[in-house]
Amino acid sequence: MAGLILAIETSCDDTCAAVLDGPRILSNLISSQHAAHASFGGVVPEVAARHHLELTAPLVEAALAEAGVSLDEIEAVAATAGPGLIGALLVGISTAKAIAAARRLPLIPVDHLQGHVAANFLEPEPLEPPFLCLVASGGHTLLAAVRDQFGHEVLGQTRDDAAGEAFDKSARLLGLGFPGGPALEREAAAGDPEAFEMPVAMTRDPGLDFSFSGLKTALVYRCRDLGPEGVGERRADLAASFQAALVGQLTAKLKRALKRGEWEAVALGGGVAANGPLRAAVAELCERQGVRLKLVPSALCTDNAAMIGSAARFAPRMPYPDYLAYDAFASAERAA
Ligand code: KG4
Ligand code: ZN
Repeated sequence: MAGLILAIETSCDDTCAAVLDGPRILSNLISSQHAAHASFGGVVPEVAARHHLELTAPLVEAALAEAGVSLDEIEAVAATAGPGLIGALLVGISTAKAIAAARRLPLIPVDHLQGHVAANFLEPEPLEPPFLCLVASGGHTLLAAVRDQFGHEVLGQTRDDAAGEAFDKSARLLGLGFPGGPALEREAAAGDPEAFEMPVAMTRDPGLDFSFSGLKTALVYRCRDLGPEGVGERRADLAASFQAALVGQLTAKLKRALKRGEWEAVALGGGVAANGPLRAAVAELCERQGVRLKLVPSALCTDNAAMIGSAARFAPRMPYPDYLAYDAFASAERAA
């Protein structure tokens, strides 16, 4: 088989390895560290890096085994270079460098956000640019104009918290589990989204930026007014009202972006794109606007290595030995 890519993703608390044959996923494994971080109520960078150290090599081996290929058949090794937790990233990029250097293979450093966009280029039914992509994760929330497979232009982004971060912090406030997004979605399923009035921020702002800190503060006040017992009784209603306001802002901005461009297709990316009510609201919006919607499975929305391999197909390759001194990057400033 020609063109096989081994991809590694370790930007946060999931250790991920995948093997891709072009746009086809041969294996896509994730070893979640959620349990290791749950007692802290969030990801502890040092703990994440240490777990990646233990998990990355066995996961790469397992990904190769599941794909039914040996390292000798791999043509290039890709890894997330940033943005993310620097210690966590270093484990993935160093492992990729070591595997690539031993076989004199090229290294493909990948931008994590482009990875979320590129999940839409995977089979089945890869989405061809141009399309408008809403990326909402634990670290980022942005609207991206995707005109080709090589990158994206940021049309608007959050001015404070990311959508996933708002989910996680609010879930913690409501005494729900970690990670907060899925826990809050489950709780909200039994609640009334109109029970509490929550601000849908930035709707009067003419731009395409987002803001979620006001929503989080509104929830803090509601909880304070209700007291611990009241929160216990109204937890599902609080979760549902919070979720509805957050989804309302994301879809309002997406609608505005659609009106400004000649977009024929919309896609979603990032962990928050796994959220059922968001997927339903965006589907309804796209139907009303007569725009095609691509929804990748939830497992390709949250962090995974297949999306990194997908972006790597269109990213520059660094030949051996040019990458030996290559470094990961923590913030979005430096593109891969
Ligand atoms: O993309 P991702 O896996 O990692 C980052 O790049 O940050 O996104 C993780 C974020 C977390 O904040 C998590 O709570 C959120 O995505 N998330 C969800 C859901 N699943 C994951 N948020 C809302 N609803 C979900 N079902
Ligand atoms: Zn991510």
